[in-house]
Parts: sequence; C-alpha cells; structure tokens
Amino acid sequence: MVKLWQGESAQWRIELETGGEGTALSLHTGAQGRVLIVNLGGEPTAETARRAAAKAVKTLRGLEAASAVLDAAPVVKVLGPEGPAALAQGAELACYRQPSWKEEPDKPFAFYLAGAEGPEAETALREAQAVTRWVYFARDLVNCPANLLTPQDMAQRMAEAAGKLGVEAEILDETQTRALGMGAFHAVGDSAAHPPRLIVLRWRGGKEDTPPIALVGKGVCCDTGGYCLKTAAGLKGTRGDMAGGAAVCGALLALAENRVPVNAAAVIPAVENRLSRDSFLPGDVIRSMSGKTIQVNNTDAEGRLILADAVTYALQKEGASRVVDIATLTGACVAALGFTTAGLVTNDEGLFLALMNAAKRAGEQYWRLPDFPEYKQMIESPVADLCNQSSDGCGAITAGLFIGAFAGTTPWVHLDIAGTAWVDRPRWEYQVPGATGAGVTTLYQLCRGLADAP
Ligand code: BES
Ligand code: MN
Ligand code: ZN
Repeated sequence: MVKLWQGESAQWRIELETGGEGTALSLHTGAQGRVLIVNLGGEPTAETARRAAAKAVKTLRGLEAASAVLDAAPVVKVLGPEGPAALAQGAELACYRQPSWKEEPDKPFAFYLAGAEGPEAETALREAQAVTRWVYFARDLVNCPANLLTPQDMAQRMAEAAGKLGVEAEILDETQTRALGMGAFHAVGDSAAHPPRLIVLRWRGGKEDTPPIALVGKGVCCDTGGYCLKTAAGLKGTRGDMAGGAAVCGALLALAENRVPVNAAAVIPAVENRLSRDSFLPGDVIRSMSGKTIQVNNTDAEGRLILADAVTYALQKEGASRVVDIATLTGACVAALGFTTAGLVTNDEGLFLALMNAAKRAGEQYWRLPDFPEYKQMIESPVADLCNQSSDGCGAITAGLFIGAFAGTTPWVHLDIAGTAWVDRPRWEYQVPGATGAGVTTLYQLCRGLADAP
C-alpha cells in the first residue's frame, strides 16, 4: 500500500513537450536517481490521474527502481482531495501481482505519495485505499484456478474476510438450498462432485428499517459448458466465471470497511458447471425457486439459471428493494462491446442513472442495451415459462432479460462483465494480465451514493 511521504516535496517546475496524454519521460538526476514526468493530458480527471500514476509505476518498475515518491501536488490543484486518492488507486492497481505458486517471490516496490497532506485528502485517500484492497481481494479470487477454489473454498474465503470486518456471512449448503426449492441453481450445481453453496453477506450500516439493496454475483468456479461442452479454447480461463461473485463480495466488504451508512446484501450462487453422471441435459424442464419453469436449451447458459434463483432469494429472503446482478454472462457481450465496456440491461431509469454516475466515479464503462418486447419473445418456450437460450440471437440482451424476468417490477440492473473481468492484455495502465476486479468500485460507489442521509 502507498505510504505518505514524510520528506520534503520537490521544488521545481519544468515545462516540456512529452508527447500525448499518458506518455512518460524519464530524466537522470545523477546520484539522486531519476525524475519521471507523466503527461496527464489536457483536462485531467480522476481517471487520467489513475492511468498516469499506473503508467509511472509500471515505467519505474521496468527501470528496476526499488522505490518511488509520487508528487500529488499538481493533481490536488486540479482535482482537489480526490486527486491523491486517484493517484494512489492507479499506482496500487498497477502494482498488483497475481497469486503465484512459484518458489521465487517478486521484488518488493516501495511507493510514497507526497503533496497530499490535509484531513480532506487523507480521508479520501483512506477510503480509496480500502476500496483498492478489495479490488485486490476480488482479483485474487478470480485468478485462483478452479482446482484450488471450489464453491466451498470460495464460501470459506469470503466468510473469513467478512468475519474480520464484522460482516454477517451465511453459507447455505446443498440441503438448505434444496429445501428452498432452488431448482435452477441445483440443475447446474449438482453437475459436479463439489457441491454448490449459496453465499450471503450482509452489511447493515444503514437505518434499521431500510430494506437492503441486493448485489447478486455469478459464482461459477469453472464452466465446462456441461453436456454442451466447450471447446479446448473455450475452456481456457473459465476459472474467471465467478468474477461477478468476487465483485459483489469485494464491494460489500469495502462498504463495511468504510462504514458506509447503507444496508446491502451480497448474494453469490457458487457452483461448478461440469459433467457428471447426473448432469442436467438440453431439453430438461426445471422449476425455479420463483415457481417459474425453465426449458434448458443449452447447458452452457448456466449463469442465468443460478442467477434467476439468487435474485428470487434476494427478493424473498433478504427483502431487497433494488437488485443489481453482475456476471461474466455471455460471449455475445464480448462480441458487441469488447474488453473495455460492460453491457447493461435494466428496468428502472433511476437505478440506471445512479449506476452510470457510480461508474463514472469508478472509471469504469458500461453501455445500456435495448429491452424491446421482441427480445423478450426470443426466450419464450412452448412448454415452459421461459427457455435459457434465445431462439433468435441477441445473446447479451436476452440473457439479461431472462434474469430480469425474475426481478419482476423491483428496480433492477444487470451488468455483463464477460469482456471486462479478465484481460490477457491490459487495456488500461492500471490493469495487469488476468483478473481486473471489474465491478467492485462501481458497485461500491453505487451503494455509497444510495446511502442514508446522516
Ligand atoms: N461464462 C460464459 C460466458 C463467457 C464467455 C464469459 C466468454 C467470458 C468469456 C457463459 O456461461 C456461457 O457459456 N455463455 C454462452 C451462452 C450461450 C450458450 C447461450 C455463450 O455466451 O456462448
Ligand atoms: Mn457457460
Ligand atoms: Zn458461464
């Protein structure tokens, strides 16, 4: 974590042409080391500050530096107390190293922030650093291979982290979820030798009688596709199919660490989608917890099945007044929006605007997809209330609308992070190959924005 610099701040002013936004220039200063100048571009924002700090850290590490002091004074002038917080966030996210099972650990790198003094800047910095810690936590879980992270392992790691913050964690085992009638969740969850878990985390920082916002995250620890088996290329990287679950857990624990006065519940259906003697089959008709029946057209469209029951659980058992679901749900979303932008489907203008505001603060990109009635017809079934694969394409929209059918009239937003949760090649400077932690900061900012007035 970034520490505050206790020495003197540098007193210089250099004007240079350093090329376009985000370019870095390194100057030798003899025995003292180096000065690195990073161009923030024309009108700096929190996001350009994050990217610039990340660029600086990556450049310095590339130059084998063991430590660095980042001068926050220039961004304080433009961005106020949020400026140093953004710098710290960018720098820390760029320093992330995925959990390694190698014998040789990475060289440590010490990082200090100067010019960020004063109570306001320090408060903003502390808040941002707590969020960054939970982005790290989410990245760690997503990077963890499936053989080391079964649904039960994930439940334990989340519950343990929650326990340290005084957050209530409830892990429902397969007997309990079966008793609740979670047939869609079990259709997928029973496909593996490792039994499914429903993980529920509750942060009650708000008023006693305010119903919680539910954050529902897809927790598929590995996705073989089931009988609709994926190809070898398709199987690679499906360890990341629990990124939505990691995101809601990270966001909720960041709310708790920062004592945000809001009531929120994270609901994470954790399963493996595998092949076994009892795996469900295309053509099966299953009954969800809501009572709605579903015709399974494709066992690889498993995320929406477990999320359907998790949304019902959030409404019926947690009494949620708003629902956000987040999932690495469709290849179609990656095809439509790529790796920089997540898809969004919603039934509520107010929650939509709140989400987009939160995303802007977080520096994440979401794009709303249409929900015309024709799209809903694509997931009708001749024999059941719904089917789990569209009859006419539009995979990202129809997957979202499938989940929306279980939210009913409760304000709901669906986020498809299939493209943004994992990058083999970073798209922004503060990403590193592997898990990105997509969604953590946006969901945190959303709930913070909805917090009770003091
Ligand atoms: N987890 C996948 C979606 C996915 C694909 C995430 C690529 C990240 C990268 C999901 O469970 C899936 O398999 N979806 C299918 C749905 C289809 C069968 C209707 C898909 O997108 O192909
Ligand atoms: Mn799948
Ligand atoms: Zn999946």
